[in-house]
Amino acid sequence: MSAYDSKKILVTGGAGFLGSHLCRGLLADGCEVVCADNLFTGRKRNIDDLLSHPNFEFIRHDIVFPLFVEVDEIYNLACPASPVHYQHNAIKTIKANVLGTINMLGLAKRVGAKLLQASTSEVYGDPTVHPQQESYRGNVNPIGPRACYDEGKRCAETLCFDYYRQHQVPIKVMRIFNTYGPNMHPEDGRVVSNFIVQALKGEPITLFGDGSQTRSFCYVDDLLRGMRALMDSPPELLGPVNIGNPNEFTIRQLAELVLEMTGSSSELVCLPLPEDDPKQRRPDITIAKRELDWQPSIELREGLVKTIDYFATLVGTP
Ligand SMILES: NC(=O)c1ccc[n+]([C@@H]2O[C@H](COP(=O)([O-])OP(=O)(O)OC[C@H]3O[C@@H](n4cnc5c(N)ncnc54)[C@H](O)[C@@H]3O)[C@@H](O)[C@H]2O)c1
Repeated sequence: MSAYDSKKILVTGGAGFLGSHLCRGLLADGCEVVCADNLFTGRKRNIDDLLSHPNFEFIRHDIVFPLFVEVDEIYNLACPASPVHYQHNAIKTIKANVLGTINMLGLAKRVGAKLLQASTSEVYGDPTVHPQQESYRGNVNPIGPRACYDEGKRCAETLCFDYYRQHQVPIKVMRIFNTYGPNMHPEDGRVVSNFIVQALKGEPITLFGDGSQTRSFCYVDDLLRGMRALMDSPPELLGPVNIGNPNEFTIRQLAELVLEMTGSSSELVCLPLPEDDPKQRRPDITIAKRELDWQPSIELREGLVKTIDYFATLVGTP
């Protein structure tokens, strides 16, 4: 018997990249899972194998509208996560973050559930301190093309803390840094999926700028271990807590590694840097280590093997 037996859990955005792995893990631990997703960026194929599971229920639902379900915990992941997708309909992205989070916090208040908010390293914007600690308040352009996401997520964090202070809703705020792995959308324009798909198709690998900007990449299994540990942490730990892999790589290094591992002969081409693209990103995970006894264990090369395998099956399939 695990601690999860008979817990009822709502995962919003459960058909997406992270959400689909989360649903699978929760079911494996004996939970009942309700997955609510409007399938904007998520795909049914990510949860196909779960649809017949007796403890799994899929609801096609947009969290901009209220949802009434009886649950013990809510993982609020619903939001397009890649720049291509969140800029596609910026106002909808803000609505998902603000109205959607109000709806989920309202639900948590009504049914007495605990809510974990999937926040992001984007709340730090283009950071002026490095690595980023949770106490750093960020450098976000509030009127730029990324603001619908960055400011939306910042407001969602504010809402979590206000519902906690005003209504004692138990909250957990997790700041997720770049994560990659199977079930990523092949056309979401995120750097890892982009490079792998381009390499596998033999298309040019597109670097923004000269590729000297850095990112840290966390494999999905590590990330979800951190997410679950935060949800299960003592009530006093509200967050925000950074979860990500502190090993830093330049975008060019990532491209070269993908080329080597796929055996592709794609050439590297440089494109202009998008507006407000952060130059450096690296989490300080001191709090996660100390409070959750968490740290990532999967090296980039190891995670890329599984991710390349996934995309190799996908590329060329409808
Ligand atoms: N993957 C990362 O590197 C990363 C980094 C930082 C933060 N996050 C956050 O984690 C969460 C999950 O990200 P992901 O990488 O799995 O992205 P994703 O796009 O694969 O998943 C998001 C899911 O939310 C659904 N969705 C979007 N708007 C919705 C709405 N209004 N109502 C219901 N469902 C909606 C989508 O259809 C999709 O299934 C997001 O909130 C994202 O901001 C992810």
